[in-house]
Amino acid sequence: MKQPSLIRKIGVLTSGGDAPGMNAAIRAVVRTAVSEKLSVIGISHGYKGLINKEFTPMFGYSVADIIHRGGTILKTSRCPEFKTGEGIEAAYQNLSDEGIDALVVIGGDGTFRGASALQEKHPDIKVVGLPGTIDNDLYGTDFTIGYDTAINTVVEAVDKIRDTAGSHGTLFFVEVMGRDAGFIALNSGIATGAEDILIPETRTDIDSLIAKLEYDQRKQKTWGIIIVAEGDELGGATQVAGMVKERLPSYETRVTILGHIQRGGAPSCADRVLASRLGFDGVKALLEGESGVMIGLINDKIVRVPFEKATKKHQQIDPGLLEVARVLSL
Ligand code: ADP
Ligand code: F6P
Repeated sequence: MKQPSLIRKIGVLTSGGDAPGMNAAIRAVVRTAVSEKLSVIGISHGYKGLINKEFTPMFGYSVADIIHRGGTILKTSRCPEFKTGEGIEAAYQNLSDEGIDALVVIGGDGTFRGASALQEKHPDIKVVGLPGTIDNDLYGTDFTIGYDTAINTVVEAVDKIRDTAGSHGTLFFVEVMGRDAGFIALNSGIATGAEDILIPETRTDIDSLIAKLEYDQRKQKTWGIIIVAEGDELGGATQVAGMVKERLPSYETRVTILGHIQRGGAPSCADRVLASRLGFDGVKALLEGESGVMIGLINDKIVRVPFEKATKKHQQIDPGLLEVARVLSL
């Protein structure tokens, strides 16, 4: 049984790649903390702001009118200095000087590795994490904040591209984000009826892609969509399109790299609700004496997962979903 802990002041920050719904998470953390009579400090620019003491007191009204906004009002950064002992010590000193007892960090696995490092050296600072990344690759939660919005952004864009592909008889290679993970590619690919989906988690067989395209060509179907996750082992969409064009020169091909439009925009309803639930439980978890855990959602139930698990394991692609994609694109 965890002992309820005496927490009076919490800090909240966003770190790593921004994701739609981070603002809804900040709002949930601030409002839940205020309802528990805690003081809240907003820390700007993630761990960089922790080191540079970019601290601002926050109140219930500080988070008014942000639930529908993409990005993060607290700003974010990637901060190599936090990976050093000096960086951690500087951050700890600032937290102590400010009287911050606990932190809520919102970000991806890198952010949680940083939080773990701080925890290990200074267990007196309690830390919980909220999964915020469009990649959906964190172990211990079915969904991360931002993922639902991102896949809907991809679907909207690819639907438009398909109109042009069909009108001109062109084969489009559309690159989506996912340096190490294929969740965005696989799910948006299924939703847009992609002719093929290339992801880092599975070996991409260029010969079978060529064979499929040759078969389509014989049936006079020369248009379509190939979704390529940026981290596919064959390379991004440009590389894969080049390989195809070399072997099938009569195909008219185009490449579209969707890029950072996938990280922006108003969060979907699902992301707003997810962020609100996770942020609410993050503060409750701290008050119940939890530390070193990520708040996740499994089968629609809130779970608390040790950072160690969330960062050391990788969310697995469902083989059943791969089969759905394969059969439906025949
Ligand atoms: P994300 O949180 O989206 O995965 P990053 O991988 O860029 O994004 O991580 C965000 C930040 O977390 C890094 O810029 C760094 O400040 C911190 N971080 C990542 N890994 C570590 C680590 N091993 N030790 C300390 N801090 C880390
Ligand atoms: O971590 C999320 C992510 O969207 C990855 O899929 C992508 O590779 C990366 O961020 C790109 O981030 P940046 O352009 O900020 O380096």
